[in-house]
Amino acid sequence: MGSNFGGGAVFNGASPSSHPQIVARIVRDYVPAGGRVMDIGGTAHGFKAQAVLPAGARLVIVNPEPGVGADVADTSHIPLTEPPFDLAMLFGVILQLPKEIVREIFSLARQRLRAGGTMLVADPDPTGVAGTIDRYSKAIFTPHKKFFVHTPAETRQMLADAGFTRFTDRPDLRPAFRQPPYYILAASF
Ligand SMILES: C[S@@+](CC[C@H](N)C(=O)[O-])C[C@H]1O[C@@H](n2cnc3c(N)ncnc32)[C@H](O)[C@@H]1O
Repeated sequence: MGSNFGGGAVFNGASPSSHPQIVARIVRDYVPAGGRVMDIGGTAHGFKAQAVLPAGARLVIVNPEPGVGADVADTSHIPLTEPPFDLAMLFGVILQLPKEIVREIFSLARQRLRAGGTMLVADPDPTGVAGTIDRYSKAIFTPHKKFFVHTPAETRQMLADAGFTRFTDRPDLRPAFRQPPYYILAASF
């Protein structure tokens, strides 16, 4: 992929999507048989490559980047006639986006989830030392890209503003010994 830190790439080892046993836990907890999953900012070699979905389940990759195996470029391109989703994931994406775009993505995803469905957000925690070093490294190695700071508290507030009402921290979906540590937040309504 163009940015060189998508699923499985060198900067992405701490994402839940890079670890088959964590992907399996996500599927177990959030994807029923026949369920529907939206991987926003996903790639064909990330979560999709690792996941064994239950019978009849479907995964839709939403990503504007060409050549990553996306089904659609934007959530709004998924036909409204399609049934609602059980799970929307956003792993390692919001650090690339300003708050107004993150808010738009949360709001669109909220509209396409079924009541009781889950939005799972995982992003490098920018508040710690490792997160700060990670941000500076990315800025050095990918100077053409801009990075944004969204603390866990800010992300939770943006989710609440988009209509999510229930929040669960899922540190158990964080790969052990991988840096920078991600914060992982499950939101539902
Ligand atoms: C670090 S990479 C993907 C990591 C992937 N989610 C994983 O866990 O392996 C970040 C991705 O976010 C995508 N992205 C950037 N802006 C986006 C947007 N507005 N909507 C969806 N995806 C976006 C980029 O194209 C890039 O492929």
